[in-house]
Amino acid sequence: MHINNNTPAWLASINCCFQRYNSTSLFHLTIRSIVLGLILLPVGLANAETKLHKWVKPYKPVSQEEIKQQMPFYPSRTTTNGQTLTPEMFEPAEVCKGCHSEIYQQWEKSVMAHSWEDPIYRALFKRASAATDAKVDNFCIACHSPIGMTSMNATAATLDENDDDLPGVNCEVCHNIRGITGNDNGAYILSPNREKHIKVGPRNDANSPYHKTEFSDLQTKSEFCSVCHNVSHPFNSTPIERTYDEWQESAYNEQGVQCQDCHMTPGPGQNANPGKSAIMGKEREHIFSHEFTGGNSTLHQYFNDHDSAELAREMLRSAATIEFVELSETLSPGQLATVKVKVANVGAGHKLPTGFPEGREVWVDFSVNTPTNRQIYRSGAVVDGHTESGTRNFKVTLGDANGNVVDLNVWEVDRVLSDTRILPNGYSIVEYTFLVPDDIDGEITLNATLNYWPFSQQLVDELLGKDKLTVDIVEMTSVSAKVSVAKEESKKIATIKKLVVLKLLLEMYK
Ligand code: HEC
Ligand code: HEC
Ligand code: HEC
Ligand code: HEC
Ligand code: HEC
Repeated sequence: MHINNNTPAWLASINCCFQRYNSTSLFHLTIRSIVLGLILLPVGLANAETKLHKWVKPYKPVSQEEIKQQMPFYPSRTTTNGQTLTPEMFEPAEVCKGCHSEIYQQWEKSVMAHSWEDPIYRALFKRASAATDAKVDNFCIACHSPIGMTSMNATAATLDENDDDLPGVNCEVCHNIRGITGNDNGAYILSPNREKHIKVGPRNDANSPYHKTEFSDLQTKSEFCSVCHNVSHPFNSTPIERTYDEWQESAYNEQGVQCQDCHMTPGPGQNANPGKSAIMGKEREHIFSHEFTGGNSTLHQYFNDHDSAELAREMLRSAATIEFVELSETLSPGQLATVKVKVANVGAGHKLPTGFPEGREVWVDFSVNTPTNRQIYRSGAVVDGHTESGTRNFKVTLGDANGNVVDLNVWEVDRVLSDTRILPNGYSIVEYTFLVPDDIDGEITLNATLNYWPFSQQLVDELLGKDKLTVDIVEMTSVSAKVSVAKEESKKIATIKKLVVLKLLLEMYK
């Protein structure tokens, strides 16, 4: 169910309570949908009318001047409610730490806290800026350092001035976002209110001695994350990252399971997190935590944060299952055998994997071994820093205007060449065919391991140079099985025996 910005606060707060305490119960969710659906019907109809009008007559800016006014940070879609922002309008995260110490400690370790200092980001950003005469600077910075872009005139040159400490996605970014104007490319409205000292948040009964608080339904919804977790090419609109869209089209959306419900809990499957969000705050049944754990264990390792790296691995392990399907009980020596492996996305509320398309890759490493541990087949090894050719992987491949693969220079992207990633609640079956050697007698072992990396070692070595950063390959899940290899001779005898038994049985019933 979608509650939009025109929903009265009292109604939204009802939704909020249901969300908080009953979100694990499908039954309640359904009741909620029906009851609120009925109440909302008239509101919805009125909205549909104005929305329809918008589509019949879409508005387009006519002049350069107007574009400048509507997109002051072109080519990103960021706006500020007409305000001119200065760095003094934002407070450093350390100020919040005083009272929100736990939340601060969680956030500090998150990937989003590192979104500007991330070495992979920096290296690619520099290349992108150089290749486009800085035309993409505002685009990248809109999501990787919103405060840097809107209040500090940050550019790629800022990196060279050794100004290492532009803020990443911090408290003051998220808790000063007052609305959105779309669902991608940084379409947030960043509008701090220093005079009244307001922080927007998910509660309508929050009371702070330091700042005022304002309830915002948006903060509790996936749409809030969409502005940065949907990336389109700024000039040709090719979809590059679509995490929000993937979620939006999934059953998780229909069931009201938001990004926050999976990424703002202490870990996968942990739905209750009672406590306080501030030292003098109210005791609450559930506090939204701020680790924002995803899959990028490599980046956490790089920052020497082994706990967060382990959390990311746990998140990945909760996302998928692997099994053999239609496996035959015996195989014949000297013959071709076919094995099918099924991989299912059971835990991610979007495609598996999602996000940064040049890097994110999930693949099956499949091998077959003899009773004496001799390898007779393998597919999915890492060779020269990338998965070997023929690997069955789940990944997006982007292409340029001539249809050539783009694996790094994302600004050259013009189309999606292929997308083998697994849909939320979906699965994929991959097949292997190999020759069973003549000389085997006994059982062979089949192993299939599902691996993940956020980017290949090859990509890192090219961006940063050799030995600067080691990619952490995460084993998400695995399965193994033994299959007996029976010589044709003995098989024939077995078949003859079966036939004899069958004939006897038939005769008995005559
Ligand atoms: C002097 C202590 C103190 C400081 C400093 C402080 N806060 Fe708070 N804040 C609180 C208290 C108390 C609450 C209410 C908690 C509750 O009701 O559960 C709160 C609530 C909030 C909320 C929730 C609002 C809502 O509507 O749900 C947000 C967001 C927030 N603070 C952001 C910040 C940010 C960002 C900073 C740093 C710039 C900050 N706070 C600094 C004490 C503080
Ligand atoms: C049902 C739970 C669930 C929901 C809902 C969900 N996620 Fe995830 N998310 C996961 C899991 C599990 C992973 C780890 C597996 C993976 O990388 O896909 C993950 C990974 C990620 C990653 C890291 C991707 C990578 O491979 O590095 C990002 C970014 C992310 N989620 C953002 C979002 C956003 C934004 C939303 C809402 C639009 C969302 N998630 C909704 C469970 C969820
Ligand atoms: C990426 C965006 C983001 C960042 C960064 C962020 N927050 Fe939040 N915060 C949220 C969202 C979204 C919620 C509400 C989640 C919900 O209700 O579904 C929230 C909730 C809160 C709450 C209320 C928690 C509760 O359950 O009552 C407080 C307090 C808070 N944030 C403070 C902070 C502080 C302090 C920082 C920095 C150390 C910070 N936030 C950084 C997005 C963010
Ligand atoms: C202002 C932009 C912005 C907003 C809003 C935002 N994100 Fe992010 N998020 C980013 C950026 C940028 C990164 C990647 C940083 C990097 O890898 O250097 C990121 C990374 C992440 C990751 C880690 C991915 C990984 O590979 O491990 C998760 C999980 C995530 N965000 C979840 C969320 C959720 C959930 C919300 C909404 C509550 C949200 N984000 C809102 C910009 C944003
Ligand atoms: C609309 C918001 C947005 C824009 C614009 C954007 N990014 Fe990102 N970027 C993200 C998010 C969100 C992630 C994390 C996705 C994930 O975890 O898979 C990310 C991840 C990355 C990563 C992977 C980092 C890592 O450690 O794995 C790199 C590199 C990167 N971005 C570079 C860029 C460059 C260069 C630009 C400009 C050409 C750019 N981004 C523009 C939101 C954005």
